[in-house]
Amino acid sequence: MTDRFVTLSQFVLQQERDHPEASGEFTGVLLDIALAAKMINAAVIRAGLVDVLGATGATNVQGERVQKLDVFAHDTIMKVLGSTGQLAVVASEEDEGIVPMPDDAPIGKYVVNFDPLDGSSNIDANVNIGTIFSILPRISRKGHGTVEDCLQAGRRQLCAGYVLYGTTTMLVYTTGDGVHGFTYEPGIGEFLLSHPNIHTPARGRIYSANEGNYARWSTGMKRYVDWLKQESRATGRPYSGRYVGSLVADFHRNLLYGGIYLYPGDGRNPDGKLRLLYECAPLAFIAEQAGGAASNGERRIMDLAPGSLHQRSPLFLGSPEDVKECEAFLAGTHEGANEERRG
Ligand code: AHG
Ligand code: MN
Ligand code: MN
Repeated sequence: MTDRFVTLSQFVLQQERDHPEASGEFTGVLLDIALAAKMINAAVIRAGLVDVLGATGATNVQGERVQKLDVFAHDTIMKVLGSTGQLAVVASEEDEGIVPMPDDAPIGKYVVNFDPLDGSSNIDANVNIGTIFSILPRISRKGHGTVEDCLQAGRRQLCAGYVLYGTTTMLVYTTGDGVHGFTYEPGIGEFLLSHPNIHTPARGRIYSANEGNYARWSTGMKRYVDWLKQESRATGRPYSGRYVGSLVADFHRNLLYGGIYLYPGDGRNPDGKLRLLYECAPLAFIAEQAGGAASNGERRIMDLAPGSLHQRSPLFLGSPEDVKECEAFLAGTHEGANEERRG
């Protein structure tokens, strides 16, 4: 916590002054995303009314028909980003192909990949949802950006962040100089610095996974989770199971408390469920900047070169000692991997 009031804009400007070589104009893109997040937040807090209003075929204040929140979030981000002049191209989880900038807008140097609304199956139950974003430098030289601009390895990111819409709404981001969290103050419409320099514990006591998929998991995966549940005072087991089912919410909790988030590949989906560009890579950048780790089970997520926009990847994310241990179980090299399993 901090004893001064610092808005997101003030903080970003200060970072630019401190690191003029690193920041550049993309910090403007970050502030634009924060603006879109405020708009999405305004819709999210009224989400419970959408069905009520929708049932009457109602239109919203802009005269548009009430639409699904993830489409609304996508459109809102596009409306803000499309006119900044700083972007060459964007890719969204909600769109099959890349989204070019409007013809009447200037073309810029940066690329944004984003998941407009993460955890959308939780919307109707009033459970936390989020937005995830990743800002990259373009690699194409001029004109409209290309799909190759979007398909860059995570280590090329200039900035990554997420917004968590919930009891209080937060924006957390990194530009490669630590991880900083801001809490939204709706009375003044500002994100205020509340969590400077977030560090994640080296080891946690929480695991987060959809264990409904257990029967399809590999032997190594099953043994790891079985092992986490065994009693061992020396190593602090059993771990607690915590799973919201919104990646942003599960990640945010584990970032602060320590722990591991798991979404492995399985017999039905060898690459798991989560998308490399919109979910895995940005959260990997944040995790590493907070002292955490992110792996696909064998390799660092940040080093994976995406082959297509909606490519999926297994994800093991969180406290570094936990991620390392999980990798050892998957490789069959952890001493616990060959222990006789308890019933
Ligand atoms: P999205 O709502 O953007 O499609 O993402 C959903 C993701 C992620 O938020 C969450 O961790 C995961 O799907 C949950 O998957 P399960 O339903 O298999 O648990
Ligand atoms: Mn998602
Ligand atoms: Mn989504």
